[in-house]
Amino acid sequence: MATPSLIQEFERAGQGHVFAFYNDLSAQEQQALLAEAAEIDLAEVDHLTRTLLSKDAGSGLDLSGLSPAPYELRPENGGDAEAWAAAKATGEAALRAGRVAAFTVAGGQGTRLGYDGPKGTYPVTPIKQKTLFHVFAEKVRAAGTRYGKPIHWFIMTSHVNHGPTEAFFKANAYFGLAETQVHFFRQGRMPAVTPEGKILLETKGTIAMSADGHGGSLRALDRSGALDLMEKQGIDILSYFQVDNPLVRGIDPAFIGWHVLRGSEMSSKMVAKAYAGEKVGHFCSQHGKNIVIEYSDLPKSFQEEIEPTTGALRYIAGSIAIHILDTKFIRRMARGSDSLPFHRADKKIPTIDAAGNPVKPDKANGVKFEMFVFDALPFAAKPVVIETPRADDFSPVKNAEGLDSPKTCVDDQLRQFARWLKANGAVVPTDATGLPPFPIEVSPLFGYDEDSFANAWNKLVTKPAVAAGLYLE
Ligand code: UD1
Repeated sequence: MATPSLIQEFERAGQGHVFAFYNDLSAQEQQALLAEAAEIDLAEVDHLTRTLLSKDAGSGLDLSGLSPAPYELRPENGGDAEAWAAAKATGEAALRAGRVAAFTVAGGQGTRLGYDGPKGTYPVTPIKQKTLFHVFAEKVRAAGTRYGKPIHWFIMTSHVNHGPTEAFFKANAYFGLAETQVHFFRQGRMPAVTPEGKILLETKGTIAMSADGHGGSLRALDRSGALDLMEKQGIDILSYFQVDNPLVRGIDPAFIGWHVLRGSEMSSKMVAKAYAGEKVGHFCSQHGKNIVIEYSDLPKSFQEEIEPTTGALRYIAGSIAIHILDTKFIRRMARGSDSLPFHRADKKIPTIDAAGNPVKPDKANGVKFEMFVFDALPFAAKPVVIETPRADDFSPVKNAEGLDSPKTCVDDQLRQFARWLKANGAVVPTDATGLPPFPIEVSPLFGYDEDSFANAWNKLVTKPAVAAGLYLE
């Protein structure tokens, strides 16, 4: 049965064309279209049209009062060793108290990688070809065992990959985690619109909808009941990371500790940019707030600016999309008067013409709206940014070849395994970059960071020789 009131609402909002072919559809298709339409907040679309799409919408980024954001240096780079040790102890206590959950945003499409499936199901490790999800699952499991409290893991999926993601975990018995520990929820969607703000149809019976960006996670955590579940479980610290980065220390006591000790509502890790134009976000400070400015938005002159006293890049702090969020802060951002801004992305959007025939545009014909999680930073009280060694936290798989590819990621894993082994007295041949000449692999269940690896290795009565194919588990 049709819901005329919804159709009328669309007509009143100037979006009645969404139902132009309604009478051509089967009853089932009508229901599906109404369900999609019901996902749309018409007032929000109207607001975005008036703000982001209008001719007066400022396209220029406000760079007034911009400076680099302050961050906590690692002890080996001159940071306060005692403060880092205190942070680590505090983080460990929070883990033992069961206050921490892991959170992976996995709603993206992996288009650049050219992989057709949920990105988390992509194999990444050198020997066992474990998938991204497998690696994270074992890290979460190992950290839970270490701190005596199983860690809950929240995974945000998209409309497109939700079913396949859940099925993948089921088929793999949740990689040894309890089913009740792993929580999937879908992110929201936004309709694509014409440059004039008219909602685009994909077919006569479907709207051109797309994921609302990883910033949509804040709303989705609230709407899905994930925040309620955390509250019941006594979880107030959410460790956020992206699905594309198997090196991430998703459970990092020192990071958690800095967040807790500073009373921060949202904390972040930075790495020193590898070169001026590296494609990462930049941690900046503006009018007393922390912000992240994407590489695509920050003018080149800023990206390349040199600090005269040190000769180093001035805007050196690159964002690797690793954060800790306070759960009350997430709730406030999801429900309160503060909310994340949307960014517009002009895209080629397959649609239909007035007669209902498919149109495959060869240039951008519409606009998608996305939210970015780092835009929550200026709303967060006492945000803290800490430095992290790139080699221990960041080697994403983004492109099929070249930079940030499966190959660079495997090499970085090998370097990490070799580093851990050498630090504990093993003899490992490596080249000048620390890369061993043969594949080895360490299961996160054996060791998932320096400390856990050292514990496990030093407990081995007979140490294996480090040779091609060594797998420690
Ligand atoms: C992102 C960051 C960049 C950072 C870099 C580090 C943005 C705009 N930029 O770039 O500042 O330096 O990572 O690797 O985010 N995702 C969803 N739902 C969506 C869109 C994305 O869950 O609707 C997830 C993806 O699954 C992925 C992550 O968000 O885990 C990042 O998405 P992606 O678009 O690949 O970001 P990058 O452009 O690589």
